[in-house]
Amino acid sequence: MIDTAREADVHVDINGRSHHHRVPVRLLLSDYIRDVVGLTGTHVGCEHGYCGACTVMVNGDAVRSCLMLAVQAHGADVRTVESLTADGTALSPMQQAFHESYALQCGFCTAGFLMTLESVDPDDWRDRTVELLSGNLCRCTGYQNIMAAVERAWGIERAGSRDAAGVGGEAHGDG
Ligand code: FES
Ligand code: FES
Repeated sequence: MIDTAREADVHVDINGRSHHHRVPVRLLLSDYIRDVVGLTGTHVGCEHGYCGACTVMVNGDAVRSCLMLAVQAHGADVRTVESLTADGTALSPMQQAFHESYALQCGFCTAGFLMTLESVDPDDWRDRTVELLSGNLCRCTGYQNIMAAVERAWGIERAGSRDAAGVGGEAHGDG
């Protein structure tokens, strides 16, 4: 039987800052980031690995933090959505593109989309953006606007592509 009361030490770098805590061995990385470290930009939706809302970067790879234990991140370099605005004010180019393309409404999914995008080299994924983002779910904005934001940020020009900012405010409900 698993001893759920067991604890272990975790040393992890998050957004360039070192953190050290003693945590239950069953604590999810998502809960560690939000509830222990206090970085609440990472959202938790399904907690089953389906929605992608909890996506962070671990050692450069996009990871669903609800499927990873905090103790598994011991010694790792973790980046969350808060790292995109290093000085806490200026938006990253992709965040700016989401803003300009009306690519969010409630914003619950947005951190996950942004971290999935942050984890890749655009040159490798420019032609496969639908595939790249197929693991991130959005309940309200509509994927056309999100795709428009990616195209804007990555400078993709596609026949028939329409930027949501240029379609007279028809920015909602097409997902
Ligand atoms: S909360 Fe992790 S994938 Fe949905
Ligand atoms: S903007 Fe609300 S879930 Fe995506």
